[in-house]
Amino acid sequence: MRVAVFSTRPYDRAFLERANGPHGHEFVYLEARLELTTVALAQGANALCCFVNDRLDGEVLRRLQRLGVRVVVLRCAGFNHVDLEAAAALGIAIGRVPEYSPYAVAEHTAALVLTLNRKIHRAHARVRDGNFALDGLLGFDLHGRTVGVVGTGKIGECFCRIMSGFGCRLLASDPRPNPACEALGARYVGLSDLLTASDIVSLHCPLTPQTHHLIDAAALAMMKPGAMLINTSRGAMVDTRAVIAALKSGALGSLGLDVYEEEADLFFRDLSADMIRDDVFARPLTFPNVVVTGHQAFITEDALTAIANITLANLAAFEEHGQPVHAVSVERLA
Ligand code: NAI
Repeated sequence: MRVAVFSTRPYDRAFLERANGPHGHEFVYLEARLELTTVALAQGANALCCFVNDRLDGEVLRRLQRLGVRVVVLRCAGFNHVDLEAAAALGIAIGRVPEYSPYAVAEHTAALVLTLNRKIHRAHARVRDGNFALDGLLGFDLHGRTVGVVGTGKIGECFCRIMSGFGCRLLASDPRPNPACEALGARYVGLSDLLTASDIVSLHCPLTPQTHHLIDAAALAMMKPGAMLINTSRGAMVDTRAVIAALKSGALGSLGLDVYEEEADLFFRDLSADMIRDDVFARPLTFPNVVVTGHQAFITEDALTAIANITLANLAAFEEHGQPVHAVSVERLA
């Protein structure tokens, strides 16, 4: 198949090429993000390979169908950026990578917790500057602290396991309790009880209309004074303006983000010689108790290998049976 790969970065190319070896597809690597103005780049392709910030709304899908695209394989688990009803109506199959390495994301989440708690980001800068003073680097023992995990699917479960290893108490909130987390000692409670009782709150549920701005001003007001909030899931689950207000008032103790609600115009690119024009994003970067990474939680060798292999398996299954192995469809969601 001729596959247009949107939002390609050098690591995508390296891992896809390796996995493509025996399949022999023709990959056309495009740096551009898929959107209405770039959709014409898919000319000549019968398949598309897309990532989290590519736009797959009804209009883009209609244009893709007119260009002869029959399948879109996502190099990610989330599909909140795809109009599945439009895809079904147009006969475009959608595949995804439901699981590649929950460890990658859960371990990065733990890295954010440790960085914020032990002020590693500040300590690193200080020591490089010959400043060995310890003022302002005070952390707390994780042992015995309460960690609230919102969403205990694959990633949430791994994160529970890691934090249980530190000796943390676990609270969880999920409409579908996970027995593996219960076995680790996690107690399932409603979201408000979790927010009230947790020293650290970490989000691991998908972005849906129900979870959009799940952490808003009201939710922040319920959190323990000085608590830590971590979001490695999807940016729009957190109301960034409300979080900035909570940080400025001191109600929220620290914030770790790997995702941001308006990240599509920022992340996965080198903008170091440019200006950040998004003031809402730029403001928390000035706070000492905030650490932001640019949607990198997934980027381990193991995860990229799995993503590439499953993407190739999705394409092979589509060629053989007309559906990717991991198809996403409106029917399946119903
Ligand atoms: P999963 O599908 O295994 O687990 C999601 C869990 O969230 C399920 O148990 C579900 O019942 C629960 N859930 C749904 N609505 C909820 C709600 N309102 N409150 C509490 N729980 C709710 O998904 P997985 O693999 O664990 O991934 C979780 C999320 O992590 C993905 O949806 C994605 O947004 C994000 N992610 C981020 C990455 C990154 O690089 N930063 C990489 C991969 C995923």
